[in-house]
Amino acid sequence: MAKVRKAVIPAAGLGTRFLPATKTVPKEMLPIVDRPILLYIVEEAVRAGIEDIILVAGRGKASIEDFFDVSYELEDKLERDGKHEWVTSLKQIRSMANVMSIRQKQPLGLGHAVGTARPIVGNEPFAVLLGDEIMISPKGEATVTEQLARSFETTGLSTVAMMEVPAEETSKYGIVEGEISKVDGATLLRVSNVIEKPTAGQTTSRFALPGRYVFDASIFDHIKVTAPGRNGEIQLTDAMVAIAKSKGLIATTFKARRFDAGDKIGYLQANIELGLEHPDTGTALRAYLKRLAPTL
Ligand code: UTP
Repeated sequence: MAKVRKAVIPAAGLGTRFLPATKTVPKEMLPIVDRPILLYIVEEAVRAGIEDIILVAGRGKASIEDFFDVSYELEDKLERDGKHEWVTSLKQIRSMANVMSIRQKQPLGLGHAVGTARPIVGNEPFAVLLGDEIMISPKGEATVTEQLARSFETTGLSTVAMMEVPAEETSKYGIVEGEISKVDGATLLRVSNVIEKPTAGQTTSRFALPGRYVFDASIFDHIKVTAPGRNGEIQLTDAMVAIAKSKGLIATTFKARRFDAGDKIGYLQANIELGLEHPDTGTALRAYLKRLAPTL
């Protein structure tokens, strides 16, 4: 089975939940401790063996592209100041993968954003990682993208990550329905239907899509014929229904902590949890939280 070598990271949304910060800064560039959200996502893809990363960028494209490019003045200054470890770390960022970008001229929906990457992805299977969802897998274990890629490479079927959410939260996600099975401690679904942000009573399924996918290239044909759905956007979920009904689609639970960093509370949670694990901030942040806790 073809190896998954390419990943698409849609990062062209308007980020309205983060206004006014996102008026000039794309939300994917907001920092979690000292690294932009996007870097956590690119690293996840790289750890899955992805070689080419295609960023779908909109406004603020320059800041996203510049991040993976050389910054001569900065590196020269750091070098002259003897801060060699910083130069090494900046060099690592730009050499970690072949990062390229394509523009989505208007934010016409996630399906449209993924479709925009077709000229670069071509006829290969590829991963999609949402640009505002951070997944941290346990140390030494496969990243979520890696888990999906290996499933695709074994079964030949497009495979997406799913997680169980409480009934009152299903309206925030794409929800998958289908036949359940258990394999090696994971819950698998042979997907029969995908519903975008269902209203109460529209589904009994609690399996939500948190933003990691591996598709074969036929998804592009389905996206092309997908009419604008909810909010006038071209939804990825509609194209997923089509692939589920033609070649077949698997959804699987995964082992990782997930942060919805595109949402204020998820963003703060990521900063706190990852700040506690960061060597520069962990001790001081833990002491601060302990002092703060009794006053809450
Ligand atoms: P979201 O729906 O979370 O992003 O899309 P948004 O539209 O920017 O957020 P709000 O609701 O206005 O705050 C998930 C991912 O898909 C990208 C976003 O950048 C985000 O990383 N996206 C979404 C696109 O690239 N293009 C689109 O047209 C829509």
